[in-house]
Amino acid sequence: MENRRWNKATLCVQGGYVPGNGEPRVLPIYQSTTYKYDSSEELARLFDLETPGHMYTRISNPTVEMVEKKISQLEGGVGAMLTSSGQAASLIAVLNIASSGDNFLMMGNLYGGTTNLFLVTLRRMGIEARVVNASMSDDEILSAIDGRTRLFFCETIANPSLEVFDFDRFIPLMHGAGIPVIIDNTFATPILCNPIALGADVVIHSTTKYMDGHAMVVGGVIVDGGSFDWEKDDRYPELSEPDESYHGVVYTRQFGRAAYITKARTQLMRDLGSTPQPIAAFLLNVGLETLDLRIRRHSENALRVARYLESRTDLIASVSYPGLESSPEHEKAMRYLEGGMASGVVSFSMKGGREKAMLFMDSLSLAEIVVHVADARTCVLNPASTTHRQLSDEMLREAGIDPGFVRFSVGIEDPDDIIRDIEEALSKCL
Ligand SMILES: Cc1ncc(COP(=O)(O)O)c(C=O)c1O
Repeated sequence: MENRRWNKATLCVQGGYVPGNGEPRVLPIYQSTTYKYDSSEELARLFDLETPGHMYTRISNPTVEMVEKKISQLEGGVGAMLTSSGQAASLIAVLNIASSGDNFLMMGNLYGGTTNLFLVTLRRMGIEARVVNASMSDDEILSAIDGRTRLFFCETIANPSLEVFDFDRFIPLMHGAGIPVIIDNTFATPILCNPIALGADVVIHSTTKYMDGHAMVVGGVIVDGGSFDWEKDDRYPELSEPDESYHGVVYTRQFGRAAYITKARTQLMRDLGSTPQPIAAFLLNVGLETLDLRIRRHSENALRVARYLESRTDLIASVSYPGLESSPEHEKAMRYLEGGMASGVVSFSMKGGREKAMLFMDSLSLAEIVVHVADARTCVLNPASTTHRQLSDEMLREAGIDPGFVRFSVGIEDPDDIIRDIEEALSKCL
């Protein structure tokens, strides 16, 4: 298995863990917090980061490490670190290179939880997120960058607007300004898009979504592309100067291309402890084994659903899915997403607003109403009646949310059944 360049479908099944002679064929769960060493000298070398090895499961664990390796191989990174949630991955990805007094750029279309983390919680910690979006000119975006700007954060396929990130425009713009691009690749997954190959520097995921795929385990991951030059100027002293909290280690000098991910683990995971349990990594690995199969099926099913919804102009005002030829995102989807496949999430707006959207959702029987997206079972959510329930229709429109907006996460069931379910529910809305 080891010394060949395998394709992604193979890596999904067999990447990461490579059993030795007589060892278990399936990734074992190392349910141990601690590791035994024969001498204090060996342990001391481990603490000095001079030899690799596990010292305590808050920082690393063999089961977790094998899954990190698999995801790093899938994304084409130099290293990865699993976290206890997608939120923890976003937080650590930013904190790793930004401190109080610094700022960073974020796209305005990020997932709501990330937006809140950046605009509210990080601001309280003295780190300012500055919102930019694709409709701004390059000059307007660049004018938001100053000497304390540390990074740019975006999503490959934004949740829930489903905008596709314009790599060819933003990557050179940010690198020209001297800052790295950190991208949330949750909806696309490494099967549909490898942001590192397209120039991004760090990738994060909420593994809770398609990677796990079964809605069983909350988790996240950070993957280091290893391409950003942290020493090109004095903007990243935390990586290029001695870390006093770690015996004066200089990450760029000691770990080269893996400086960023090593610091994230040895300093921030050590201090914050947002660690996944070994059993969670094991379950995530079971999901990853079928990721390639599932995401193709999600994408095929979603395209069929989106086409059907588009044909129902009697009840549906608009459909948003990057795989649709009519979508303004289609050209970018064809350019950046494998075969133009755009995952399973479809958004649409019901004519008749909030009431009609709720009637439609209540009339579904296969698709369930849940606060989740991107797992094997078809599910649905109407922000106006759930997450944004407290807002009036007018306030919703001001927030850019149509009251009749429905986020439909197409599963991997038989597409004829999913469409029949939608058809029957729509017939109750006539
Ligand atoms: C695109 C995206 N990023 C990050 C997150 C946060 O991940 P988690 O719920 O695993 O903390 C989510 C959750 O919905 C998401 O959709």
